[in-house]
Amino acid sequence: MDEEVRDRLAVALDVDDLVAATRLARSLAGHFRVAKIGLELYTAAGPEAIGVMIDLGYDVFCDLKLHDIPNTVASAARVVGELGVSYLTIHAAGGTEMLRAGAEGLAEGATRPAGVLAVTVLTSEAEVAATRDMVADRMEVAFETGCAGVVCAAPDLTATRHIRPELIRAVPGIRLAGDSVDDQRRVASPVQALAAGADLLVVGRPVTRAADPVEAAERLHRSLQP
Ligand code: C5P
Repeated sequence: MDEEVRDRLAVALDVDDLVAATRLARSLAGHFRVAKIGLELYTAAGPEAIGVMIDLGYDVFCDLKLHDIPNTVASAARVVGELGVSYLTIHAAGGTEMLRAGAEGLAEGATRPAGVLAVTVLTSEAEVAATRDMVADRMEVAFETGCAGVVCAAPDLTATRHIRPELIRAVPGIRLAGDSVDDQRRVASPVQALAAGADLLVVGRPVTRAADPVEAAERLHRSLQP
């Protein structure tokens, strides 16, 4: 397995049951460095889900998309840090003070290197035309508040490439030719996303809902071989 490719890949474990998530995660650990635990799995299984994925060797991407008063976000981020996650998402729309509080809280609790990824704009939030400026502004805010990176859609990467290149760009909406688009509104192939400056590709249903997830993961890796 190509380690450089594996390093760039996160699997979105969007299931509501820890047994199913564990089964998937165990079979895919050779293909993905990062396991993304979103609201669905976290609501079903909580901190135990994080511990299980760490035990399987994953870096955990805790996609809780926090958005609350700064004090609450800081406290929650500290607790999530104590659980050993590597990435935590917070809504950039929550503003400077909240993002900074979250980044500081995570750093305070972290038991391993960990960083906040600021969610720039949800694909459901805005019309595409309005999105670019908003993404750019929120990237600046993410950097200034001590976030490690941002979550953004592939089509916004190129126009924002020059903005704070040290920020990690985590990109969902990854599809190979022939994959179902599902409810994703702004998709790109893995090659397109990496070429546009993505650092971490977040892939869910094309792999997790495939008849054979390991075969789908292999296809994904093959698509990224030079
Ligand atoms: O579509 P897929 O299952 O690959 O989704 C991976 C991740 O993309 C999801 O966990 C979700 O966080 C994100 N997503 C998104 N925009 C959508 C749908 C899902 O960013 N419209």
